[in-house]
Amino acid sequence: MDKLKITGGRPLEGEVQVSGAKNAALPIMCAALLSAKPLALTNVPRLRDISTMARLLAQMGVAVERSEQGAVLHAKAITDPTATYELVKTMRASVLVLGPLLARCGEAKVSLPGGCAIGARPVDQHVKGLQAMGATISIEHGYMQASARRLRGARIVMDLVTVTGTENLMMAAALAEGETLLENAAREPEVLDLARCLGAMGAKIEGAGSDVIRIQGVRALGGAEHRVMPDRIETGTYLAAAAAAGGKIRLTGAAPKTLDATLDKLREAGSKITVTESSIEIETARRPAAVSVRTAPYPGFATDMQAQFMALACVADGTALITETIFENRFMHAIELQRLGADIRLEGNTAVVRGVERLQGAGVMATDLRASAGLVIAALVAEGDTVVDRIYHLDRGYEGLEKKLGLLGARVARIA
Ligand code: UD1
Repeated sequence: MDKLKITGGRPLEGEVQVSGAKNAALPIMCAALLSAKPLALTNVPRLRDISTMARLLAQMGVAVERSEQGAVLHAKAITDPTATYELVKTMRASVLVLGPLLARCGEAKVSLPGGCAIGARPVDQHVKGLQAMGATISIEHGYMQASARRLRGARIVMDLVTVTGTENLMMAAALAEGETLLENAAREPEVLDLARCLGAMGAKIEGAGSDVIRIQGVRALGGAEHRVMPDRIETGTYLAAAAAAGGKIRLTGAAPKTLDATLDKLREAGSKITVTESSIEIETARRPAAVSVRTAPYPGFATDMQAQFMALACVADGTALITETIFENRFMHAIELQRLGADIRLEGNTAVVRGVERLQGAGVMATDLRASAGLVIAALVAEGDTVVDRIYHLDRGYEGLEKKLGLLGARVARIA
């Protein structure tokens, strides 16, 4: 199994191009299920999660054609509206097929995702919303069995902010009869990107990007072309790496407007940041100052950036409080960071991180996607070699990680 060997201690210098956003591409690929016409996507990252979604859709009868940075998805007919446990367990975002399948076919059989490394992650809000739209959903042998003649629009007030829950309901509502009002909807930019794609397919959606989304259902959706938005978490990860390691890097093909909370915190840490419409430059001349973060739904500080900022705090000057409010078990990286010499104390959902002058390379284990990114950042700063095991987690979400780090002058190698 592949490992990543990183020799730390060198500042980052250079330019890399940001990839398309995994978390936008996944729901957008599912939107193809809503139409009998082809959906042509560009800026689709080459990642394991994307191939998993392509496989899942292919099992349902969708023709999937991939090119270098694109994909054409054609759901002319859906032959089997089922998402099996084998695929859902490897990627929780598979649950995004539930709403579209139900809206298009009137039935769906989707495995319950179960827990994952970062917490329980229930899907009750997805189920409740679809039920409000007239679906009958029962749980049988670990599967959600859903059926509906035609979904009806409804007013749905979500109990908590859920990104994929909002996306699932928005897709279902696009083909429902009448108007759906989603209140307390997720405001993440990926929700907006999905709404734009659905709009290009002929859906009538207003308010995406705010916490109230209004959808007028239509009878059928057509084909469309759509360019997937840039990945704000990948962008933020390289920025945090540059803030921790020092130096000056430039990211192109980015969407700085989706990164306000991250950029604010990096400025607070002492980095100089210059943005244009689609690029970000970060320059860090000295040891970062300690900055505390508290995760929150967008536009708050992203939980998907928490591990990277914990890594930054490990080498900062001062003490930072890292508070996780979205997932109950998202601190596994803290234990691994301690192996590199970090001074971290866990108090409930807060990590108290006292910055140290230097970390030391060691063997560490990746536990989930973003936790692994935190370990890579710490390794870039640590003295000597760090070997990160189980990097298949990184391959789920970072396109060409070692190549991009190499372009920034880091000493990184994939080893067996
Ligand atoms: C998405 C992102 C993930 C990110 C997360 C939070 C994708 C593919 N993944 O995941 O990278 O970390 O948003 O920004 O976009 N919850 C419930 N009931 C539900 C749904 C969610 O209780 O029905 C809870 C979850 O357990 C969690 C919180 O709500 O505590 C937020 O989860 P949610 O926004 O749904 O995360 P995902 O959409 O799965």
